[in-house]
Amino acid sequence: AQIMKGSFPHFMLKEIFDQPSSSFNTMRGRINFDSYTVTLGGLSSQMDTIRRSRRIVLIGCGTSFHACLASRAVLEELSSVPVYAELASDFVDRRPVIFRDDTYIFVSQSGETADTLQALRYAKSRGALCLGTTNTVGSSIARETTCGVHINAGPEIGVASTKAYTSQVIVLLMIALVLGSDSVALAPRRREIIDELRVLPDKIAEVLKLNEELESLTEHKLLKATNLVLMGRAFQHATCLEGALKIKEIAYLHSEGVQSGELKHGPLALIDEHLPIISIVVPDAFLEKSMNALYQVTARGGRPIIISTTDVDLSSVLAASEATGQASAAAHSASTEALPSSSGVLRSPRVGGTGDPSRTAHPTGTDITLPDEDQLLDQQPISHKLLAAAGGPLQCIRVPRTVDVLQGILTVIPLQLVAYHLAVKRGFNVDFPRNLAKSVTVE
Ligand code: AGP
Repeated sequence: AQIMKGSFPHFMLKEIFDQPSSSFNTMRGRINFDSYTVTLGGLSSQMDTIRRSRRIVLIGCGTSFHACLASRAVLEELSSVPVYAELASDFVDRRPVIFRDDTYIFVSQSGETADTLQALRYAKSRGALCLGTTNTVGSSIARETTCGVHINAGPEIGVASTKAYTSQVIVLLMIALVLGSDSVALAPRRREIIDELRVLPDKIAEVLKLNEELESLTEHKLLKATNLVLMGRAFQHATCLEGALKIKEIAYLHSEGVQSGELKHGPLALIDEHLPIISIVVPDAFLEKSMNALYQVTARGGRPIIISTTDVDLSSVLAASEATGQASAAAHSASTEALPSSSGVLRSPRVGGTGDPSRTAHPTGTDITLPDEDQLLDQQPISHKLLAAAGGPLQCIRVPRTVDVLQGILTVIPLQLVAYHLAVKRGFNVDFPRNLAKSVTVE
């Protein structure tokens, strides 16, 4: 076992750091980056049938289900076939209607998960085309599906799945690229994605350089937490669910992934200055909405840790706060832990307390201004909203930018590392958490 872990103290950390090479191996021999073509030998005989499907249904459990969620939109976009993601256990319970011209894709690292296998047997018995994507050649799911694509991530020992997730997302994306390969209109989109797949291993290596910064952040901001909310939308919703699952399963910290659009439908009630929050804000088509969600949280005293990309312009927040908030920054710097200088710290001004009802006492002794509901909804520039609302330094982890459909791979890795450090610092068995098995072969 020591040999397999190399110089790493745990399998999980090794597997997180494997991701530049595991992602490369998933693409190896399948993507021609010069001709912009993708070849998946395992699926070639069924490609026309898949393209003519009435629906494509992705099925998995846990992390594998999250890979389905992360890939659903791009599969639909590139294939022009309606795509659904299903939890295997729920699918088995419902025994839903299946059409003979449906395509099912069963996603499983181990290829042995009982719920996924039951779902496969049910769909197969109803005459649907059943494909598999696993990390285990010769596994039950690999054998019982008509054909499929192995993720080739290499053995994953840690119970918490890490490199399998990123490779599953890449495989499902490659399937989407093949399905869309006939469309001239989609050619620019395919080229954009393939260009980014080429440099993905390097960008993953860049993210891994944040390890020490993330360890420090975990120590200072999350170690004593009893609850954690992770929020994001669109492609980043799956990232939040996956990050929350990692943190639950190895750090035994209750954590919840929230789709940001749902905040106002309930979770916003949880938000106060005490609840740790991680917010993913990336420059996709939904950036403005993500920033607004951030504002909704900071306006309620929330102090999110932001995971963003190196090119998202939050400088106006920083500049304006530096210009107007020197004194208050000094005041609250004493009450906040310093992080390494590479982490972006967005400072915003505090407003001194008066009898103004829109101001509320802050536990550190200074006051913050809470905008009223009209301000929440108005058209002010977002940076101003943030500046007005944020009650202190916001910490920002910056990952490289990539195309929207791959950004979740770069934003989930910091969450894998946070989960890892949290579990180690809490003294838990990182690789073999209590009550869980790597491969769940019972229903
Ligand atoms: C992931 O960290 C979990 N250990 C778990 O959710 C896992 O992904 C799930 O049990 C599915 O396993 P599979 O991919 O082998 O089917």
